[in-house]
Amino acid sequence: MDRTLVIIKPDAVNRDLVGEIIHRFERKGLKIVALKMQLLKPYVLKEHYAQHKEKEFYGELIRYMSSIPCLLMVLEGKDVVSVVRKMVGSTFGREAEPGTIRGDYSVSNQANLVHASDSDEKAEEEIKRFFKEEELYQYNKMNFDWIYSRDEKYIEKEKK
Ligand code: CMP
Repeated sequence: MDRTLVIIKPDAVNRDLVGEIIHRFERKGLKIVALKMQLLKPYVLKEHYAQHKEKEFYGELIRYMSSIPCLLMVLEGKDVVSVVRKMVGSTFGREAEPGTIRGDYSVSNQANLVHASDSDEKAEEEIKRFFKEEELYQYNKMNFDWIYSRDEKYIEKEKK
């Protein structure tokens, strides 16, 4: 199965949207394999957001992301990176489609509630940045047989 990193950002924590956001991922059928609350240090955020270093919003982005604790989670599922990106919606809240997390709850460019990895390579890198190996759980979920078809599970086993 594939994995992705999700950060539930300080605006979501402040606005009591943590439960709603996690609920959406659970209802979709994604598996939580790691979850923790953490006050992110500016030096880690600077590494995480290095691609935006030259942008004028960079300083404020680091300040906001380190202002109060975030929730960090790793989700597992087939093609989970693109599934989660679609659920999160496009970056700017005012432009994000209704039905997506940002489209339903954000009207801001920066305070857009959630960060989600944008590729499998980035997901691997970002999960390593925020989680130790022993914080990632492998376990069987009771509902697994009802989340994917037999074919999907069979193909997955063949790939291993
Ligand atoms: P995220 O998906 O975490 O990736 C980079 C973050 O930078 C983005 O969400 C926003 O929080 C922020 N961001 C991107 N573009 C802008 C912008 N034009 N103005 C302010 N913040 C931005």
